[in-house]
Amino acid sequence: MAKVTVCDHPLVQHKLTLLRDKTCSTADFRLLLREVSLLLAYEVTRDLPVELVEIETPIQRMSAPRLSGKKLVFASILRAGNGLIDGMLDLVPSARVAHVGIYRDHETLAAKRYFFKAPAGLSERLVIVVDPMLATGNSATDAVSTLKAEGARDIRFLCLLAAPEGIARFAAAHPDVPVFTAAIDTRLNENGYIEPGLGDAGDRLYGTK
Ligand code: URA
Repeated sequence: MAKVTVCDHPLVQHKLTLLRDKTCSTADFRLLLREVSLLLAYEVTRDLPVELVEIETPIQRMSAPRLSGKKLVFASILRAGNGLIDGMLDLVPSARVAHVGIYRDHETLAAKRYFFKAPAGLSERLVIVVDPMLATGNSATDAVSTLKAEGARDIRFLCLLAAPEGIARFAAAHPDVPVFTAAIDTRLNENGYIEPGLGDAGDRLYGTK
C-alpha cells in the first residue's frame, strides 16, 4: 500500500478552504493554487538528500549542506497540473519539467494520453508527478505507468485533493509511489467529481466551462 501524507499545515488548510469556495475568482484561484503548491512542494521535498560542501562565509570556512544528486523533475499532468508547477518552481527553480497530456473520457472516465515529453535521465532523478485532483486515479495511474516505462524509478505523487477511491486505485497500481495531498475528501460522485471537492480544477484555473 502506498504511503499517503496529508499536509495539515494551517496555511495549506486555510488556502484550500479559499480555493474550495465557489465565489473564489479565477485570478484568486490561480494565485492561491500557486501558493499552496509551494507549501506542498516544501513537504514533498522534506527528505531530499544533501551533501556537505566547503564554503567560506565572510567570517570563516565551514562545511555546509547543499542538495546532492541530479536535478528533480516535476511532471505535470495536463492541463490542471500546470496550476501547481509555477509554485513548485518558485521553490525549486532548477527542477526540470515533464508534461503528460491526459484527458478523461467523460462517458467512461478512462484516461486517454495524447502527449508526453520528459527530460533525459529520468532513471537517475526524483520525479514528482502533479495533478490537483486525485479523483478516479486513472490519470495519475496512467501518467506514472508512462514515466516508469520511460525509466523513472523514484516517483512521488502530489495533489491538492484526493478521493478515497482514487487513492485505492492508484495505490493498487503503484504501491511504491507515495502520495502527498492537502486533504482526503469524502467520496467520488457518479460523474467522477470529488465531494465536497472544489469542482473542476482545470475550469476554475483557466476560467473555462
Ligand atoms: N477533476 C477535477 O477537476 N475535479 C474533480 O472533482 C475530479 C476530477
